[in-house]
Amino acid sequence: MSDPVRFSLDGATALITIDNPPVNVTSQAVRAGLMAALDAAEGSGAARVVLTGAGRAFVAGADAKEFDAAPVAPHLPDVVARIEGFAIPVVAAINGAALGGGLELALACAARVAAPGATLGLPEVTLGVVPGAGGTQRLPRLIGLGPALSLISEGRVIGAAEAAKLGLVDALAEDPVAAARDLALPERPATGAMPAPAADPAALEAARAQAARRAKGQEAPRLAIDLVAATTSLSMAEGLACERETFLTLKISDQAAALRHVFFAERAAMARGRKGGAEITTAIVVGGGTMGAAIAYALAGVGISVALVETDQAGAERARANVAKLYAEAVARGKSSPEAAAAAQSARHTYHAGYADLPPAEIAIEAVFEDLAVKKAVFAALDAALPETAILATNTSYLNPDLIAERLRNPGRFLGLHFFSPAHVMKLVEVIRAATTSAETLETVLRLTARLKKIAVPAGVCDGFIGNRILTRYRQICDVMLIEGALPAQIDAALRGFGMAMGPYEVQDLSGLDIAYANRKRMGWATLPGFRYIPIADRIVDETGRLGRKTGAGWYDYEGGKASPSALINQIVVSESSRAGIARRSFTDDEIVSRAITAMIEEGARILEEGIAASPADIDLVLVHGYGFPRWRGGPMHYAERTGLPEICARIEGFAAADPLSWALPEILRRAADTGRPLTDLTRTS
Ligand code: NAI
Repeated sequence: MSDPVRFSLDGATALITIDNPPVNVTSQAVRAGLMAALDAAEGSGAARVVLTGAGRAFVAGADAKEFDAAPVAPHLPDVVARIEGFAIPVVAAINGAALGGGLELALACAARVAAPGATLGLPEVTLGVVPGAGGTQRLPRLIGLGPALSLISEGRVIGAAEAAKLGLVDALAEDPVAAARDLALPERPATGAMPAPAADPAALEAARAQAARRAKGQEAPRLAIDLVAATTSLSMAEGLACERETFLTLKISDQAAALRHVFFAERAAMARGRKGGAEITTAIVVGGGTMGAAIAYALAGVGISVALVETDQAGAERARANVAKLYAEAVARGKSSPEAAAAAQSARHTYHAGYADLPPAEIAIEAVFEDLAVKKAVFAALDAALPETAILATNTSYLNPDLIAERLRNPGRFLGLHFFSPAHVMKLVEVIRAATTSAETLETVLRLTARLKKIAVPAGVCDGFIGNRILTRYRQICDVMLIEGALPAQIDAALRGFGMAMGPYEVQDLSGLDIAYANRKRMGWATLPGFRYIPIADRIVDETGRLGRKTGAGWYDYEGGKASPSALINQIVVSESSRAGIARRSFTDDEIVSRAITAMIEEGARILEEGIAASPADIDLVLVHGYGFPRWRGGPMHYAERTGLPEICARIEGFAAADPLSWALPEILRRAADTGRPLTDLTRTS
């Protein structure tokens, strides 16, 4: 391996190049290398030091591998302090991403030159910490309180042009190293010696309100705002001490651990798409409704030609209009020019009634009505129309892919591809391994989902796969709490308080009560032996016809689009309790959260036991990216392990003692709790 930091002398300029591929993170070897390079510069007679990065990045942040370890000297603040106080002026030549610790190094320099394509930011809060090497103290001194607040508390990453406008960089140059060598140094003290920024109560208040809204429950953004605010009252030394203390405390916090867990799980999921497989250039999508149109739009967005198939000409025209609407939205949001949108629509999309004269395709994705007979007919037609090598995928939510795939000529190329709505926006996709799916098929599809920038989670076949199966279980347990004494609005508020994006009843009103209703009928819940059936949701559909927002009423009443608790629904809930002979009792919010989240954990454990998910982290990705589980709690399985599996087991045993029809302790949880081994180790691999 080459040196992670290189030193060279060119006339009066000492060039220090950080070369720690792929993105020059500030690992211990880099920090030590920087110290050594500064030593070399000191005795070199150079009049200026230029600091830059090799390859595409300047320095993209800290080394993720060191996140969980105790810090080893030299620490980044030491390097930063040495650069700022260095006898020879150091100029940062920001050739690419300068993020987190990378930007903190640059802030300590006497001046900064950036390439036009460089990106800059302090995204630490997204990992549950604050900048730990002076970022919160130097940035406000350099660019003012308001702009610094917006960058630090949201973890926003900006381009070089915006950075230049803010005064964060002194010049833009195609060759930042050459420009840094020649730059006339600005007349100003070192960043840390600049006067405190002017107080800005309005900006502070706005940042606090924004954090309370967008980062509810999270510590890091709030503490980051406090640190930035402190620049107006504390000395640099005091401010740095506060920042370091906050950084070290947050680094070992539950929230930072959870955010790191999700970050690593996402990286692992992305990496699965780089294992091989063939490149897809042409596709067929069958069904151009909500899902099909959005899937076609997403495929075309990465350059794939898409033929959309409907049963008749009117359907094809509806599909064309659905796709056109997505392009129009992109234009309205400034994401595409009208010309580019028109060009993409004519170059990449065709619409067809039936399967005659279809262009060639390497993959066909089916998104027709959720009906087994309809889907089987579609795959029979695709099987006949396409070569045996074309991959066939179904976007079914609940149907058994193994049944859909029956009688295909080459069932190895069949699988499920469960997108979430809206499919061009939601990052999650469950990749369902049918009994017959071949490894090559999986690899090619994972390569495609990576290209679509999706987080692909492989799952085995079971009812609802990973996400909808856990959702069903979670709702069922919430319904049990309804009949025992809670009301919908209280359950929703309690789970929002935990951090769920929405409560379970609000979500049902949004997506429509009919979907879950049909699903309960299909599963035969009302007559399922050994199952505690709560008829409240069925009664709402049967007796009131309220299907949620689309009918203007559901679990809630809606006036002017605003939800309010419904007397009618509450009365149905209470009458069901008395019909079941249950004396209603009050629930605390903690009790509601504990039961509902434990239900998710219990179902997740069964999913691991059955080998449906490959790892607990995959389950966490599904819940965080598809179901509004708070990222900063890491997903249900991470949350369970952080809470302690013995505690989770005790809870389940307690629930089971009171309600044996609804609860039983999964063996994998008992074993993990007894042995102290992580769930990952005990997961069945299939
Ligand atoms: P949709 O009703 O909006 O669209 C279905 C489309 O399929 C319609 O345009 C219809 O004309 C067309 N179609 C029906 N039979 C056809 C046939 N034999 N050949 C060609 N086209 C046909 O339904 P949506 O919401 O797009 O759902 C489609 C599938 O995706 C379903 O299996 C659903 O369970 C699944 N899904 C839906 C999600 C959602 O949130 N809407 C999320 C994930 C999966």
